[in-house]
Amino acid sequence: MDLTTRYLGLALKNPLVAGAGPLNGELDNLRRLEDAGAGAVVLPSIFEEQIENEQEAVERLSVTGTDSYAEALTYFPASASYRIGPERYLKVIDRAAKAVAIPVVASLNGMSEHGWVNYARHIQEAGASALELNIYFIPADLRLTGREVEQRYLDIMTAVKKAVTIPVAVKLGPYFSSVGHTATELDRAGADGLVLFNRFYQPDIDLSRLMMAPNLELSSPHEIRLPLLWIGLLSGRIKASLAASSGVESADEVVKYLLAGADVVMTTSSLLRHGVEHMGVLLDGLRAWLAARDLETLDQLRGRMSQRNVVDPTAFERANYIKILQGYKAS
Ligand SMILES: Cc1cc2nc3c(=O)[nH]c(=O)nc-3n(C[C@H](O)[C@H](O)[C@H](O)COP(=O)(O)O)c2cc1C
Repeated sequence: MDLTTRYLGLALKNPLVAGAGPLNGELDNLRRLEDAGAGAVVLPSIFEEQIENEQEAVERLSVTGTDSYAEALTYFPASASYRIGPERYLKVIDRAAKAVAIPVVASLNGMSEHGWVNYARHIQEAGASALELNIYFIPADLRLTGREVEQRYLDIMTAVKKAVTIPVAVKLGPYFSSVGHTATELDRAGADGLVLFNRFYQPDIDLSRLMMAPNLELSSPHEIRLPLLWIGLLSGRIKASLAASSGVESADEVVKYLLAGADVVMTTSSLLRHGVEHMGVLLDGLRAWLAARDLETLDQLRGRMSQRNVVDPTAFERANYIKILQGYKAS
């Protein structure tokens, strides 16, 4: 059975990628992920704030429970994987690239087009096969227009692309008035891949202490629906590779994403929940699904249920919603 996959122009032995998260900051986990069959790994992010102001950022990152600034800090500040500065991050890349034979994708997480983007060059020199650029921007300034926000994404991506020759994937959230148009513009401007979607942290309120409650919940399978929609709509319509990220728990979600047209499928929450060896469970499940249908290659599966290929393309659109509501029976 041939599961080989191209992602960002890289040859992967299969489409399963360990998505950015704290586990991937440890060499031992990377080796175990490779042994369990991962096609590639994405390192935890290094944040713009850490690069721009290393000292200040390191201090902030080590304050567990901080909730009032930089959305970036909401990614498990207590984890050691996020408490390293820019110099150490480069060492992690170097060691990771030497420790495993599968592609190691480094992750830059930022929201402005400042000097920090030049750090991308060091990431390349440290040996990363590719760069995932997580543009994590919450337009909290109410004067910002949608167009300005989109332009920011394009500017950051273009600046990072200029700094490196390795492929760059942009990880973005779903909150655009026209996700498809934003994706198309990023594609035209040279993004080698799009990772759909970033899961934006959303604050909660602790009712007993009347305080903002900063916590990050692991995803559940129903969260594949939004990325599934957009991957299905974009598949075959843009040049950039498509990576699915959100909600993978079992091989079912992996197969669904591939059917919609994803080139690769990433998982972070399921590995945190079940351990890195879960990667092998997902891979076995994918193989079993294909074998049960006598499918030999992923090309026979990938994109078969994208909007371009389904019998009823309105299944992705408003018309289908109305159809469902008309047939809805309250129990
Ligand atoms: C604990 C934790 C840490 C994460 N750290 C990062 C990170 O450093 N960089 C990043 O781009 N995404 C990060 N993410 C987001 C994941 O890579 C992924 O996009 C998101 O969790 C949705 O995928 P999932 O449903 O497989 O978890 C993190 C997620 C979790 C749960």
